[in-house]
Order: sequence, then structure tokens, then C-alpha cells
Amino acid sequence: MIRAHLPRVSGTFLGSLAPLPERLCPNVEDCLGSGTLLLERAGIETARLDVECLLAHVLASTRWQVILEPRRRLRQVEFGRYLALLLRRERREPLAYVLGTREFWSLPLAVSSGVLIPRPETETLVEASLAILRRAPPQPLRRSPAPTPTPWVPGGPAPSPQPPVILDLCTGTGAVAVALARELPAARIIATDISRRAIRVARANAERHGVADRVTFLRGDLWRALDGHAPADGVDLIVSNPPYIPSGTLATLMPEVQWEPRRALDGGRDGLQFHREIIAGAPQHLRPGGCLLLEIGADQAAAVRGLLATTTAFEVPRVFQDLAGRDRVVVARRHPS
Ligand SMILES: C[S@@+](CC[C@H](N)C(=O)[O-])C[C@H]1O[C@@H](n2cnc3c(N)ncnc32)[C@H](O)[C@@H]1O
Repeated sequence: MIRAHLPRVSGTFLGSLAPLPERLCPNVEDCLGSGTLLLERAGIETARLDVECLLAHVLASTRWQVILEPRRRLRQVEFGRYLALLLRRERREPLAYVLGTREFWSLPLAVSSGVLIPRPETETLVEASLAILRRAPPQPLRRSPAPTPTPWVPGGPAPSPQPPVILDLCTGTGAVAVALARELPAARIIATDISRRAIRVARANAERHGVADRVTFLRGDLWRALDGHAPADGVDLIVSNPPYIPSGTLATLMPEVQWEPRRALDGGRDGLQFHREIIAGAPQHLRPGGCLLLEIGADQAAAVRGLLATTTAFEVPRVFQDLAGRDRVVVARRHPS
């Protein structure tokens, strides 16, 4: 059905979203075929997958169920909604914004325009944090506690008798904070962001996943968010995925990225403006033996090591790779005394 109208797709039929009589609404197979073609023409490499996700969303179903029912005819209201979503995606709006959700650490998270969509590589930050707190060597990504922890950081962080206190700077949707809170049932987490909208979304995600009572959200400009709220004894971990794209390369990124808030991406001239500020302030907020974990761009490890070396507060840092084998997280431990 959509295919029949594709030659004049955006201008007329899809553009006007004129409601079709119920009996003329296409079935799943037609929607998948025509929708895929439309998105391919828009240059979207994941066209088929995206269309399956859109249909599953509209039909309140799973991708697999959708595929297994090719002859299912869409109702008028379903077809209308499908077309509306398809057109948004055709304009290269990120799938996560169109659907309003993105999975991170196997947790469905709400996302909305104005808030960065969590990326799979940021799970490395969660993985490394858990490895440190559980004193286990980092394993390939897994979602349950390590069964037999063994030391991995030489002289690892001094065990604390208290439940860990973690600071997540630049929390965005709260992806890292919520994942850590879910994995560490006793941990207390402070999550900050400069964006009011991000804090609202992050709080909603914490509520959705039942951890809101252990996550404190603070809005403010980097360290200033902590004014009057910093734990007196410091925190055990500081984690952050700050903006780290060099300003000059932002315009060269995929069309989808241009929909995301510039403030969430722009790391200044060399991409390291936030890393500099975080490293400068971290010793004051970390307890002795605590660790700072910073997400980095794949080519920023040496530069961030260099920034860490400008202070005597930290031991020699370590770098963790993401699942693609790229440098992704720098870990620096504050000297124990
Ligand atoms: C790269 S995003 C990371 C979001 C989230 N932690 C994640 O991994 O999906 C960076 C976040 O930093 C926030 N941010 C930008 N400038 C900031 C500032 N000066 N102080 C605090 N947060 C800031 C943005 O609003 C955005 O949510």
C-alpha cells in the first residue's frame, strides 16, 4: 500500500497523512517492505530494523511477533500512527526519540529530545565501576554480580565498611546512575546535570526502575551542582560521561546526532574541556583510595592520561576498552593517603 504511493511519498500521501478507509489499510508485510524502502532512500543503514521497531511500537508488540504476523492488517489508527513515526524517522530523527525509549544495560529508559540518547559504549563505564567496587577483573559485558571476585587494581580501592557513595557527573537520562543503583542495591548515588530537562528525565527513569530513593538529583554547572550537598567524607567513585566531541567536528557527525543537544556533546576546542575541569575538582570530592572514571573518545586516552599527570593526586591511570576494542574509560585512583 505504501509502496504504491512511494513515488510521491513525502509530498502527498505520507505528507498529508490522509486517513485511509479501514479496508484499504496495508498489512504488516506491506508496511515493512515499503517503510524499509522509504528509510533506505533517506540513507538509513538500519532501515529494516528501524521499521520493525516502529511497527512493534505502534502495535504494542515485539519485533518477533510483528514478523511472525505478516498478514495482520493494520487498523486505521495504527496505520496513521505508523506513518507519522515513519516520517519522523525519514527526516533522520533518531529512532530513540521517535520511540521515546532506549535500552541501556538491559533497562528500558525514557529519552526525549533535548537529552542525549545513551550509547552502548557507555556501558563500559558501568562495567568498570562494578569491577572496581566488586574488586573483580572486568569481564565481557554481563548484567549480574560477579560470582568470585578477584583483585584487579593493584592494591585496589580500600574496602569501605559503608555502602558505596557514587557521584555521576553529567547524568543525562540517568543511564549510568540508574544502572549502578540497580546493580548495587545498597549504594547511594548523586547524579548531576546542568540541564533541567535531563534531570527530569533521569528522575523519571530512576522512579521507573525503583531506585529513586537512593539517587539524589542535583542540577547545576559541573562541580557547582554539589554546592552545599557534597558528602563530608568524599565519595567512593566519581563516574562521568561528559561532552567530549571537539567543537569543530560536531557538524561532521551523522544527521541523527544533529538532533541531540549540542550542550551534551560539545567538549570545547579539543574535546577535553570537561575532563580538565573534572580532573581538577575530583581530588577534593573523592575519598582517599576512591576512583575517578571518565568516558573518553577513542583517541583521547593519551591526552587524558596527560591531564591526570598534571596533579599528584592520582596513581597511574588505567584505560578500559569497549566491546569494539576502542579505548573508552580512563580510571584513576586517588592515592590512599
Ligand atoms: C555526553 S552526555 C552524557 C549523558 C549520560 N551520562 C549518558 O552517558 O548517556 C553529557 C551530559 O552533560 C550535561 N552537561 C553539559 N554541560 C554540563 C555542565 N556544564 N555541567 C553539568 N552537566 C553538563 C549534558 O546536559 C548531558 O546530559
